[in-house]
Amino acid sequence: MHFHYSFFIIIFFTSLSTTISQPENHFLKPPSSSLHLQPQESIELTLPLSTTNLPIPPPECTLSVFNHSFAYTYSQPPFNVTYSPPLDCPPPWSHAVLQFSGEISGEQYDRIAGVWISGVEILRTSTPEPSENGTFWKVEKDITRYMSVLQQSNVSFSMMLENIVNDEFTGIYNVSVSILFYKDAEEVVNVKSRKLGLGLGLGLGSGLEFGDLGGGVYEEPADLVIPIADDGNQDYWFRIQSESEKIVRSIEIPMNAKRVVLELYVSHHGDDEFWYSNPPTEYIEMNNLTTSRGNGAFREVSVKIDGGLVGFVVPFPVIFTGGINPLSWEPVVAIGAFDLPSYDVELTPYLGTLLDGKSHKIELGVANAISFWLVDANLHVWMDKNSSVVQAGMGAIEPTEYEDEREWKFKQLDGSFEIEIERKSHTSGWVNCSLGNFTTSVAQKLKFENKIEFQQSGTQKTVEQKVKVKTEVKVVSDIGVLISSRSLKREYPLKIRTSTTPGPGEDTSSMITNISHELKEKSTSGNLQTSFQNVQQSGGSMLLKDHSVLSGTAQTHQTLSYKGQSGCFLRSAQTSGGELLRDDSSVCSSHLSW
Ligand SMILES: *[C@@H]1O[C@H](CO)[C@@H](O)[C@H](O)[C@H]1NC(C)=O
Ligand SMILES: *[C@@H]1O[C@H](CO)[C@@H](O)[C@H](O)[C@H]1NC(C)=O
Ligand SMILES: *[C@@H]1O[C@H](CO)[C@@H](O)[C@H](O)[C@H]1NC(C)=O
Ligand SMILES: *[C@@H]1O[C@H](CO)[C@@H](O)[C@H](O)[C@H]1NC(C)=O
Ligand SMILES: *[C@@H]1O[C@H](CO)[C@@H](O)[C@H](O)[C@H]1NC(C)=O
Ligand SMILES: *[C@@H]1O[C@H](CO)[C@@H](O)[C@H](O)[C@H]1NC(C)=O
Ligand SMILES: *[C@@H]1O[C@H](CO)[C@@H](O)[C@H](O)[C@H]1NC(C)=O
Ligand SMILES: *[C@@H]1O[C@H](CO)[C@@H](O)[C@H](O)[C@H]1NC(C)=O
Ligand SMILES: *[C@@H]1O[C@H](CO)[C@@H](O)[C@H](O)[C@H]1NC(C)=O
Ligand SMILES: *[C@@H]1O[C@H](CO)[C@@H](O)[C@H](O)[C@H]1NC(C)=O
Repeated sequence: MHFHYSFFIIIFFTSLSTTISQPENHFLKPPSSSLHLQPQESIELTLPLSTTNLPIPPPECTLSVFNHSFAYTYSQPPFNVTYSPPLDCPPPWSHAVLQFSGEISGEQYDRIAGVWISGVEILRTSTPEPSENGTFWKVEKDITRYMSVLQQSNVSFSMMLENIVNDEFTGIYNVSVSILFYKDAEEVVNVKSRKLGLGLGLGLGSGLEFGDLGGGVYEEPADLVIPIADDGNQDYWFRIQSESEKIVRSIEIPMNAKRVVLELYVSHHGDDEFWYSNPPTEYIEMNNLTTSRGNGAFREVSVKIDGGLVGFVVPFPVIFTGGINPLSWEPVVAIGAFDLPSYDVELTPYLGTLLDGKSHKIELGVANAISFWLVDANLHVWMDKNSSVVQAGMGAIEPTEYEDEREWKFKQLDGSFEIEIERKSHTSGWVNCSLGNFTTSVAQKLKFENKIEFQQSGTQKTVEQKVKVKTEVKVVSDIGVLISSRSLKREYPLKIRTSTTPGPGEDTSSMITNISHELKEKSTSGNLQTSFQNVQQSGGSMLLKDHSVLSGTAQTHQTLSYKGQSGCFLRSAQTSGGELLRDDSSVCSSHLSW
């Protein structure tokens, strides 16, 4: 059923050369990169909870969930507490916001972390690398979409943060998690601005709630969220080490489901932390390099139902705080580092298959993966409250089109590697529920381009990547009336240039780094439009010894802009040498013309 063609042009020249080891690009920053007697705040530039001029109403109540120190936690089971809704403000609520704050001092690498309620992931986050006298940070995220989970009592509330503490890495992460519950926020903020102001603003935390723009996928929280995650005895996320490792979970969907969306959480680590800059394995082998960061520069997370492809995601390349040049992310971290994006896959067209009363296999995998990826998912299910059984059927399922073009050229350590991938899919299906018979059609298009160039005997490396994704979802009634139509266009270009030369001391090297990356989203819902853009540019230099930065400096510039029906928001910041030079923001609430 899947149409697939590909062709390769492989050209390589080889000859003898001496072996040099390629610079790896995950580093520990010097503790004294900036001078602070007091703990310093590390921040991710995000949109505010409300992008309107209207103040956010105070929460009805705040629940402190836990305070915990993550010391040596590597390969240990998750930390758990028991969660129940607060007694002083029981459900229903209109919104809920997760407040995560952390502090650390000493020496430590950045670490990956996740938060789950009853196995449902609600946050994927990473940590800053501490400065000598301490670093603190906070993350706020709208978690209204998990309302059905937040209403449960006596369920496990868990967090994982894989940290290693020894004589060298002394940093212990202290973390506090609270939930803010809001009631009737929509009475304070009018309905339209709630949808595109507070509702959306809250949903946008970092502007990375992919798919949530324009009135959004989760405007009405799902009635049920089914975790596609590990059991929590050792892990909640699945650790995927290779392409052949498939994660398969059997699920049963309630017979009155009328809409299903799979929300994917993913982060890339180890030899795939910088997957977008990995050359083909042949280049590494021919040059006798010691690095294991190979397998080319294309990765795709796939979602299958009973073996058939239903979703594909090229993840946004989140750079953690130790990545490429740690001085670039001090004190403003890279886009998405504290609130990694999740990705929505609309599965409603597949209800015809899912609603047969049998269990079905959901499969997650990562194409071309090398060790390791942390992946899990949540299945959001909306139910027909007025009928116990809903009928559904598959409509036209056009075969997925896939094109893969690769061109390699290299001579010894210099060369270029290009990949171009395109994928298109179109599916539709009907659901006959108590409100009527509706047909949902979903069209998806992905365009991926990556080019890696090595020059100057491999010491100069340029990575240029472009990802464009377009998703359109239309719902039509049985008499042909358009009920809703949403589209989301997302682009995330990335450009990295590094240049390494031998350093002054023994086993040292100097590196100049230039990084620019961006997340751009345009969405429409009916005739409402929103656009969002987050751009970061950083240039820097450092003196390295193994994995440690001995000294260096970097300048980073970031601008964030958002335009919606109810207003617009602008934020711009500049950092240099570990200091925040400026961070200006402005809100405007006037009706904007496009
Ligand atoms: C940390 O604070 C001490 C004094 O408390 C100061 O001497 C030292 O320079 C500070 N370190 C950094 C990196 O700012
Ligand atoms: C966490 O610490 C704060 C501040 O000390 C305290 O108010 C709160 O009750 C603590 N939360 C829990 C769950 O112990
Ligand atoms: C973390 O918490 C412990 C125990 O409360 C405290 O001793 C330590 O100073 C805290 N660390 C930081 C960086 O604040
Ligand atoms: C939750 O557990 C507590 C203590 O075991 C119990 O008293 C309470 O009834 C439970 N609540 C629910 C809703 O199950
Ligand atoms: C957390 O809960 C899970 C599942 O109930 C359990 O397997 C795990 O051991 C718990 N973790 C800790 C640290 O108690
Ligand atoms: C790689 O190692 C092999 C075996 O030692 C050797 O024959 C070959 O010339 C080396 N290639 C390069 C590019 O150094
Ligand atoms: C469900 O049924 C109730 C009572 O029969 C009715 O008031 C309500 O409008 C119905 N809701 C929907 C969504 O059809
Ligand atoms: C489904 O369609 C049939 C025929 O059009 C209709 O009688 C029935 O009420 C519809 N609704 C459900 C929930 O099956
Ligand atoms: C619902 O509509 C689709 C498309 O118009 C049609 O094929 C299907 O038979 C209808 N289902 C019911 C139960 O009427
Ligand atoms: C790259 O970074 C260096 C060092 O900060 C800077 O001088 C240079 O202008 C940057 N180049 C580009 C193209 O951004």
